[in-house]
Amino acid sequence: MKLIQQGAEAKIFLGKNIIIKNRIPKTYRHPQLDNQIRIRRTRSEAKILTKAHALKINIPKVLDTDKFTIKIEYINGDKLSETLNSYSEKKQFKVMQQLGKQVSLIHKNNIIHGDLTTSNTILSTRHTDTPNTEHRINQVYLIDFGLGFISTKIEDKAVDLHLIKQALEAKHFRSPDHLLGQNHENLFKHFLKKYKWEDSDKIIERLIAVERRGRYKH
Ligand SMILES: Nc1ncnc2c1ncn2[C@@H]1O[C@H](COP(=O)(O)OP(=O)(O)O)[C@@H](O)[C@H]1O
Ligand SMILES: [Mg+2]
Repeated sequence: MKLIQQGAEAKIFLGKNIIIKNRIPKTYRHPQLDNQIRIRRTRSEAKILTKAHALKINIPKVLDTDKFTIKIEYINGDKLSETLNSYSEKKQFKVMQQLGKQVSLIHKNNIIHGDLTTSNTILSTRHTDTPNTEHRINQVYLIDFGLGFISTKIEDKAVDLHLIKQALEAKHFRSPDHLLGQNHENLFKHFLKKYKWEDSDKIIERLIAVERRGRYKH
């Protein structure tokens, strides 16, 4: 078991093809309240992951959970935050379309990600050899539903789109084919190409309003 990340909320361990996410105490909170919050968040994340997985959305399978810990299927692959910029333009567009498709599926089922950035998306590249794993290769997976919640609101879905669009603008404006170009606009265009379902037009319209609001805040 290896500690691979120590975040503000949780410690992440990597075992044999398994990720263990352990929510750690926050000492500035009253211990009893802190326990309640950590239990609630752990339960909520496990519930959302399980719901989405049951719907055949590309999300790692929950293998086990207890009070403060979730054991999750390890997705063997590339975190898009680290690799997207190095892909050919053609591959970037393909990956963005896959991502758009997966986000449309969670939204259709009223699941809001809450922290939709390229750090929370993995392109699976290798199979693992344990019987527990189910992920398919060359597929984009969504991870980290720690801030996820259930909502039918157009606004909440538009905010998810705003987050991913911002992440693309901030970090993914390059490709080997377009060293200086405004690549993020094309990336998001390809995302939207497959983010298509009954409510997508309404959500994209709302996204424009969310962006306008964002600009006035500064
Ligand atoms: N199912 C998974 N498969 C592969 N790597 C994972 C998985 N879950 C988490 N990770 C790795 O651990 C990191 C932190 O996990 P995450 O759930 O995003 O927690 P945090 O809330 O701390 O961001 C991820 O950025 C990723 O590198
Ligand atoms: Mg994360």
